[in-house]
Amino acid sequence: MSELSWMDVGAVDELAQRPVQQLLLGETAIALTYKDGQFGAISDRCNHVGGPLGGGTLDGEYVVCPWHYWAFHRQTGVGGLNPLNAVPAHEVRVVNGRVLIASQPHSERTRPPFTPHPLMRPTERAAGPIRVLGLSTTAMTAGQPRYSTSEDLLEWALQHAADTLGCETRLQRVRDLRFRSCEGFYSKSSHACTWPCSITMMDPADEMERIYEGVVHWADVILVSTPIRWGAASSLYYKMVERMNCIQNQETIANRHLLHNKTTAFIITGGQDNVQAVAGQLLGFFAEIGCQFPQFPYVAHSRGWSAEDMENNNQYVRESQALHEGTASLVERCVEMATLLIQGTLAPRPPVRGGRKAHELDTRAQLPVLGSRGQA
Ligand code: FES
Repeated sequence: MSELSWMDVGAVDELAQRPVQQLLLGETAIALTYKDGQFGAISDRCNHVGGPLGGGTLDGEYVVCPWHYWAFHRQTGVGGLNPLNAVPAHEVRVVNGRVLIASQPHSERTRPPFTPHPLMRPTERAAGPIRVLGLSTTAMTAGQPRYSTSEDLLEWALQHAADTLGCETRLQRVRDLRFRSCEGFYSKSSHACTWPCSITMMDPADEMERIYEGVVHWADVILVSTPIRWGAASSLYYKMVERMNCIQNQETIANRHLLHNKTTAFIITGGQDNVQAVAGQLLGFFAEIGCQFPQFPYVAHSRGWSAEDMENNNQYVRESQALHEGTASLVERCVEMATLLIQGTLAPRPPVRGGRKAHELDTRAQLPVLGSRGQA
């Protein structure tokens, strides 16, 4: 067995200033802790998805990972929730006012058997008729239903898809789900935003899972309805799509398409105007998670800037043959498009990231292009 070598990482006075910090031991990142006159040193790399433990906090004797809050004993590396989950730990000595850390760990990284979340399964389409998922993002008081123009048209479209087109349909009223807002894991690091969503993984009570299941694994056609609220989509729509960032993030960090052959279209109605801006928001997001659109991918209607008589708008939409026919036609176009995609008319392509969201923006990579322009 080779003799342990010790590496001097700095002065005690300086390193004792912070309860947790990151430092490099050669090429190995370490989370160094100091508490009650004792140092501890464990691997900086969290067992979950590699979060930086040295950027975390101390909770008693445990280092809490800043990404998703897994905890490891600051001196032994053993996991707080499961002792089978451990990160390597290093011996630490103080000699003549200097902190020395053993270059090799005295314990190994261990993980308990991994049980994948059901959403992690491969995204393979099950055989069967075209499946249409309706997502209504209308908010309303629980137990006090009211008429919603956008939801009325969505229900009409689903009924048409089931009765006339032979599709399987599901309606998910997003307001019926209890789910947390996106809490910005992506803002810590792109790799802290996981698939499935970090919140889904840590909170079994969070019901966003049903939308993920429907959108990623079940639906061929996704119909989203929204009211117009001050020129924007509903707040519930934004709450939902912020949580869907984890789908788009898989494109960005792993070149992984979670959505295959999905056709999406929209129903946008409201008393106030700004259909184009709302449609632009919806189209932009669903395009970036890999959805396709039929020709003329939304049905929209609004009363306009001057109208404040929603009761008249409700009656207008409820009785409008044109809007109901238009919505039925929209779902027909979606089902045709979905059928084409599923029959394999469009060959699968490798993802090419240039010019897409979060493609490489390394300034060095841009230099030759900028140089050749400069010479032109
Ligand atoms: S808890 Fe550490 S990376 Fe997720």
